[in-house]
Amino acid sequence: SMLVRSSASAKQAVNRRSFSSGSVPERKVAILGAAGGIGQPLALLMKLNPLVSSLSLYDIANTPGVAADVGHINTRSDVTGYMGDDNLAKALEGADLVIIPAGVPRKPGMTRDDLFNINAGIVKNLCTAIAKYCPHALINMISNPVNSTVPIAAEIFKKAGMYDEKKLFGVTTLDVVRAKTFYAGKANVPVAEVNVPVIGGHAGVTILPLFSQASPQANLSSDVLTALTKRTQDGGTEVVEAKAGKGSATLSMAYAGALFADACLKGLNGVPDVVECSYVQSTITELPFFASKVRLGKNGVEEVLDLGPLSDYEKEGLEALKPELKSSIEKGVKFANQ
Ligand code: NAD
Ligand code: LMR
Repeated sequence: SMLVRSSASAKQAVNRRSFSSGSVPERKVAILGAAGGIGQPLALLMKLNPLVSSLSLYDIANTPGVAADVGHINTRSDVTGYMGDDNLAKALEGADLVIIPAGVPRKPGMTRDDLFNINAGIVKNLCTAIAKYCPHALINMISNPVNSTVPIAAEIFKKAGMYDEKKLFGVTTLDVVRAKTFYAGKANVPVAEVNVPVIGGHAGVTILPLFSQASPQANLSSDVLTALTKRTQDGGTEVVEAKAGKGSATLSMAYAGALFADACLKGLNGVPDVVECSYVQSTITELPFFASKVRLGKNGVEEVLDLGPLSDYEKEGLEALKPELKSSIEKGVKFANQ
């Protein structure tokens, strides 16, 4: 009986070692572009997330300061700053989740596609390193144009022979966050109770909120629904213009990015019924990448959910977005293979 007891307590000791904080598993999260407008508040929010045990902050500049600052917060995760290409491998090694807000933001008058020439190359380099140093990590792509940077990542990963379509996500959560906020304002319902799926992609008309599926239900006129749809589609531009040359959404994006990352970590940890909208490889439409509701699990995408019933206005919006989304996908694929 001594033997049984000691082996039982040995088992407990092993369990204690592998679960450093109660029964919450260890998770390393890396943020690439961590010293930027999004990166800094996103680093703060991830430091506040009890599911994170190790926070890795990478940028080409300024990460030591951000890491020292965020690292003083008395929450679970350790924090390490990594600066410059030579330290990218260490920043990525062992990561369970990599969030990518690296790249230049829009100025007034620009489309997201105008960022392609600079950001496509940045994303390509970062994804080449991810393929090498943390091939099993989930990827949350924030860098614009998301409609193209996600296909670029997929192609780079395919070339490296480690592509797993279940692990690559374009972050469209900010579109959902905006749709919820704008809908609550017009429908006069408590914003915390609002749900609105947003499908398609992440640029202009490719962003398609499905207010016909919004909850709680409200009887909004078609004029109001049209205005809500356009405001959601132009939400990024609204912020770009208000910031008048000082960049695009950073604080609301950090919130949205932290929300989506948390959902991914919950999925990894086996929490059931975690569903968020995201731009993923998809067979829901004829397009190879499409944003829709996705169930998250231990391997990333567990299930891409059906679009559900669409209003006539939404059906028109869906057909109207396909040519632009298709060409943005093709542009990314072509860039990665040239
Ligand atoms: P920013 O210029 O404030 O920060 C970008 C950071 O990326 C900088 O710190 C820069 O040093 C870093 N960076 C540049 N090249 C890098 C590289 N090779 N490796 C690592 N880091 C690198 O810009 P921001 O406001 O944080 O926006 C970042 C990106 O996010 C932009 O492309 C923007 O369009 C996009 N964005 C997407 C969404 C979305 O909903 N998906 C929302 C807002 C912004
Ligand atoms: C957004 O939606 O706020 C981002 O994609 C940034 C932008 O350029 O609009």
